[in-house]
Amino acid sequence: MSNFEPFTESIYVTRPVFPKIEEVTKKLEDIWLAKWLTNNGPQHYMLEKELTEYLKVPYLSLFNNGTIALIVACQSLRLQGDVITTPFTFAATPHVLSWNNIQPIFCDVDEETMNIDAEKIESMITPHTSAILAVHVFGTPCDTEKIQEVADRYGLKVIYDAAHAFGVEIDGQGIGNFGDISMLSFHATKLYHTVEGGALVHKDEHLKARIDLLKNFGIKNEDEVVMPGINGKLNEVSAAIGRIMLNYVEGERKKRIRLHEIYNEELGEVEGIKLMPKCGENKKLNYQYYVIRIDEKIFGKSRDEVYDEFKNYNVFTRKYFHPLCSEFTCYRQLNSSSPENLPVANVVGKQVLSMPMYGELSEDDVRKICGILKSMKK
Ligand SMILES: Cc1ncc(COP(=O)(O)O)c(C=O)c1O
Repeated sequence: MSNFEPFTESIYVTRPVFPKIEEVTKKLEDIWLAKWLTNNGPQHYMLEKELTEYLKVPYLSLFNNGTIALIVACQSLRLQGDVITTPFTFAATPHVLSWNNIQPIFCDVDEETMNIDAEKIESMITPHTSAILAVHVFGTPCDTEKIQEVADRYGLKVIYDAAHAFGVEIDGQGIGNFGDISMLSFHATKLYHTVEGGALVHKDEHLKARIDLLKNFGIKNEDEVVMPGINGKLNEVSAAIGRIMLNYVEGERKKRIRLHEIYNEELGEVEGIKLMPKCGENKKLNYQYYVIRIDEKIFGKSRDEVYDEFKNYNVFTRKYFHPLCSEFTCYRQLNSSSPENLPVANVVGKQVLSMPMYGELSEDDVRKICGILKSMKK
């Protein structure tokens, strides 16, 4: 152990942003007055409108969570066969393909951004491929230009899992403007949340009509059910909280920018620690996560050792994303899951560590966390 005392209160990788309780109570009173709890109520209507503007996108459909939204995205584009995706993501990404009877085909990731390696996608395409499902991992935008270029050449659809990318922009354009559809997650642990919730973002009025039918059991009107839909509706309480949270997101982002700066300052010179990827000036990021990579050979300790040692100080980091999706028992038998196909992802998955990051974390706490980490170096 070093000279650092353990934190008296546990430090977790993140903490949800809580709005002021009075604001929630006021909105609940509005809902009670309207006597409308779910099924496209006034809060839902207003939140769709407000988010469409905030995210600078043409159309947006709210959902009860990001996973159901992504399942519906695949249905709405009638995807089938194989979809090329990344193994370095949350379980939901390949699982939504399986729930649509689609086989995930894992493509390796880029060493710097940890996103799908756009240069390698073409080599994975076969006559069975119907789409590319890319993830803006930790809010770092994918190479949207290259992905679109390959997709156009082969007539493939592009879906982005933008669960981490709320408010991210490229050249002043909302991240939801790229590809055919993007999915956002509004889970409580995200920068912006509706407790649980999500959305699909897209550019086509007809697609919105189809998505809105699919998320409501395919019910067109009292007399017609036109497709096998699902229940993807966001309720009024979540929608109301989402409206309140829109006033908090920029403040929370600013606090996290400051904490990012401190992590960069403290860890920038530490050999064996790689910091978050640098993005070009033309990108607006959301600073939701702070992720490092530990090179055991240089740092002298493995990511797993660092993760375990942090617990002695009451600091709970996360091995985010480990295991790789290609290592899950349900996917490891796929040809594309072989480590030879995924050399970069297999290294990144063993090195990556998500550090504590939330607005309420103090600057001193971040400096102490960095001090503890530096003291572990051999
Ligand atoms: C990359 C990614 N995709 C999908 C999801 C699923 O979103 P949700 O939890 O809203 O269903 C998450 C969730 O946290 C995620 O991190």
